[in-house]
Amino acid sequence: MEKPVRLCRLADISDGGAKGIELDAGGDALDLIVLRRGCNVFAYVNRCPHKGTPLETFPDHFLDPSGELLICSTHGARFRVHDGACVAGPCEGAGLTAVGVFVSEGDVLLSCLPATQGREQSMNDPHRAACDQRVA
Ligand code: FES
Repeated sequence: MEKPVRLCRLADISDGGAKGIELDAGGDALDLIVLRRGCNVFAYVNRCPHKGTPLETFPDHFLDPSGELLICSTHGARFRVHDGACVAGPCEGAGLTAVGVFVSEGDVLLSCLPATQGREQSMNDPHRAACDQRVA
């Protein structure tokens, strides 16, 4: 990926919330989930490892009532926000596919797509979860 792709403004995601974003990845639509925790961001492909369905039933409704776990609306699998690991449900031990994102000048930027998209994957992206003090 030559240049980071802007996904949204950090301020478009409430602190503690999540947002679904559809990305055109070289002609293929790619549904992403972007989560915000303060000035940190996490992103995953919106595809449950159990049956491959999107997680949400309603737009941007990805979290359980505690706000601590993503929940799959199809069969109830639950995933940790910070690493996408499934901690309960039919795909326990599996995980969501992480996508590299970082924050710069108030924008949430995509740094790399997962390897399954034919691109490099960088789970240790030094820009991941970067804090931008200029964000309001
Ligand atoms: S499709 Fe997500 S838990 Fe079954």
